[in-house]
Amino acid sequence: MNTIIVGLQWGDEGKGKIVDYLTESADVVVRSQGGNNAGHTVIAGGVKYVLHLLPSGILWDSKTNVIGNGVVIDPVGLCQEIARIEGQGVAITPDKLLISDRAHIVLPLHKELDAAREAALGEHKIGTTKRGIGPAYADKVNRCGLRLADFGDPEFVRNRIAHRVAEANEVLARHNLTTFTSEAVCDEVFAAVERLLPHVTNTIPVLHKAWRSGETLLFEGAQGTLLDIDFGTYPFVTSSNTTAGGACTGTGLPPMAIQRVVGVCKAYTTRVGSGPFPTGDEGLSDYLHGLGREFGATTGRPRGCGWLDTVLLRMACMVNGVTHLAVTNLDGLDQYAELKICTGYQIDGILHKLPPARRDLWDRATPVYETMPGWQTDTTACASYADLPAAARAYLDRLAALCGAPVAFVGVGPDRVQTLAV
Ligand code: IMP
Repeated sequence: MNTIIVGLQWGDEGKGKIVDYLTESADVVVRSQGGNNAGHTVIAGGVKYVLHLLPSGILWDSKTNVIGNGVVIDPVGLCQEIARIEGQGVAITPDKLLISDRAHIVLPLHKELDAAREAALGEHKIGTTKRGIGPAYADKVNRCGLRLADFGDPEFVRNRIAHRVAEANEVLARHNLTTFTSEAVCDEVFAAVERLLPHVTNTIPVLHKAWRSGETLLFEGAQGTLLDIDFGTYPFVTSSNTTAGGACTGTGLPPMAIQRVVGVCKAYTTRVGSGPFPTGDEGLSDYLHGLGREFGATTGRPRGCGWLDTVLLRMACMVNGVTHLAVTNLDGLDQYAELKICTGYQIDGILHKLPPARRDLWDRATPVYETMPGWQTDTTACASYADLPAAARAYLDRLAALCGAPVAFVGVGPDRVQTLAV
């Protein structure tokens, strides 16, 4: 069975852990969109690994890992990540990691342009990770990007970099920011790509062969549905399709190759960056930060925290075609006496059961809550779904009913053994 794993909220749902859990039965683990703006923390055998571009299957000896054409790759960042993970004792050989020759690269100047644009937006900034993701995807769509395959023609790459540097410098100079020289960018980028080349190939036939021969494929989504460029809280979104369809366009595998869509959400809601967050709650944020939870894996930023929002989840389950829900971080709510669940938004006297498209409506959305009793019991040692307190199971049942998809996995802690199958 081939499976897409997608985030149903604003990223950081704990997808890495669910991917890691499902990887056991997978042969191939695939990333299809995003870049090193993603940060997956996986704890295996008591060791903590932080992954940004590498698929989570890299931590297993026998899995093939593919970075698909829909991903934007910062070659310098990826080389550093490979070195770091290898330093933790994980071998990353060319047959274990394959990178699409159609993937676009993030240039150093994309990061500066990202920062410059954010600075120019001032209080209206998106709150990006400043990894150059937006500018790299913009170049792709603008048809002036660089793909890994282009490095077969170094002259073309040098010319294109010179062109991109000249254009970027104009913008950077206007903001009094450090400009680039084409030589320095070329030196840095060519050296990093050289290191990656043994991994670079046409991944389309590799994936099709795996599919046709009955191997199990796992598509590892990055970010979440509300950060999707089409379905998210635009413009406070990332620049890729984070939803299930992105797994096809980002890899070259067709929709009929997929049988299962696992949607991952937290038992509450979090978000980093700017933009609407109707159920955001300072009390819950302070409480979870006090427990040392909810600090970003990529940037270390504290995440805003809020109550479970089933308006968002309802749409997320629809657009992704979620067949199974994975609810993570249930243990974060262990000691709360009373839990709120948002079932709709009141906006100008009208009840909304789905998120609005108009951005000004978001600012006036008042969540409609129902409350449920907490379980006030430590769930971290629960070894099976049946071990969970009855109130916790009732909370999960209500979540599933409101979202329209069944709960199949529950996370009660960061370790592999703390993922319970229902
Ligand atoms: P960008 O992807 O760096 O352009 O950032 C755009 C928005 O997506 C910002 O709100 C970021 O905080 C958010 N974002 C990007 N990647 C992640 C992620 O992996 N987890 C959570 N938020 C993310």
